[in-house]
Amino acid sequence: MANDIFISYSRKDVAFARALEEKLNGAGLSVWRDETRLAPAGVFTTEIASALRRARRVLVVWSAESATSDWVLDEARFACGHCKMLSIRIDNARPPNPFSQVNAIRVQDLRADFDKIISLFHAAPEPMQANIFGLPQLFDQKANNFFVVDHLIGRTEELTSLQRAWNSGIALRDEVPEKLGAPPGKHNVMIFHAMGGAGKTALITTYYRLMERGGWMGAEAVYVWSFYSQGTDEQRQGSTDEFFFHALNWFGYKGNISNLSPNRRALELAKLVASRRTLLVLDGIEPLQWPTTQGRLIAGSLKDTALRELLTYLCPLIRFEAEKRC
Ligand SMILES: Nc1ncnc2c1ncn2[C@@H]1O[C@H](COP(=O)(O)OP(=O)(O)OP(=O)(O)O)[C@@H](O)[C@H]1O
Ligand SMILES: [Mg+2]
Repeated sequence: MANDIFISYSRKDVAFARALEEKLNGAGLSVWRDETRLAPAGVFTTEIASALRRARRVLVVWSAESATSDWVLDEARFACGHCKMLSIRIDNARPPNPFSQVNAIRVQDLRADFDKIISLFHAAPEPMQANIFGLPQLFDQKANNFFVVDHLIGRTEELTSLQRAWNSGIALRDEVPEKLGAPPGKHNVMIFHAMGGAGKTALITTYYRLMERGGWMGAEAVYVWSFYSQGTDEQRQGSTDEFFFHALNWFGYKGNISNLSPNRRALELAKLVASRRTLLVLDGIEPLQWPTTQGRLIAGSLKDTALRELLTYLCPLIRFEAEKRC
């Protein structure tokens, strides 16, 4: 059964956590806390992961101790990634980045401040329903049909990295979209770069299915576009016009797209993508990359200005690298 609140805290703050659990139970809320809920012979991490997934909210108790606890940080990352984190501070220590950006209420006296915690619980918006476009698809040339990989062999490391990157994101709903930078520790962009047939599409298809099965894990928008097209290299899609027109419309751009320069298209789309918790999947971009025959310096880099700029806006690190190269 799903619990209302999962309490994430440091062992050193156990006295506070016990008192908090008691008060929450008294207010009619069901609580999951390791000390009272973990089965003695249970598989520790699996039970905690399942409780985290099933809880409606995760209440993180920040303190000087919990700010350096790997357990608490992992749980907070998960909760943020799933848009269900509530934060309180029980001493003067600031939560570590990127959690310092989330408003944590200060609790000095549990009895006096308890109403604030209850209001926090009731005021938190329900995670939004994801708005979805597209589906990463594998194409079987022989059967001339699309298919889904049933069992991905290996790739645990890549799937874990994807999940970690997703969980590092926080829905900064109050931030102005113009601020596209990522707080430290947040990953905006992941690039999978491998030879044809290595399994890039199979990997993202599997990740997409995992997200779908997990109720989209806090995503408010999921957009998938494949630049992959069949045919010879000459016939392949060499421009991103169709993508930018479709994506800008889909994300709600109201202006005239035809009048936008490639850079402006990229900026407007990046702002719309960053204004919500978005999973943007761009697959099969090799027709838009310089081939290896072009020499070592530009081989693999993107020919298309608008797409290059889009990634640059979404990933401040790439911008930094690009500036360093100039
Ligand atoms: N880890 C895996 N487990 C099972 N099947 C896999 C795995 N990786 C790849 N495949 C299979 O290998 C084939 C090629 O994989 P896929 O199309 O994902 O490669 P790709 O890197 O996207 O290639 P391209 O660059 O041509 O788009 C597919 O039939 C896919 O199902
Ligand atoms: Mg592919």
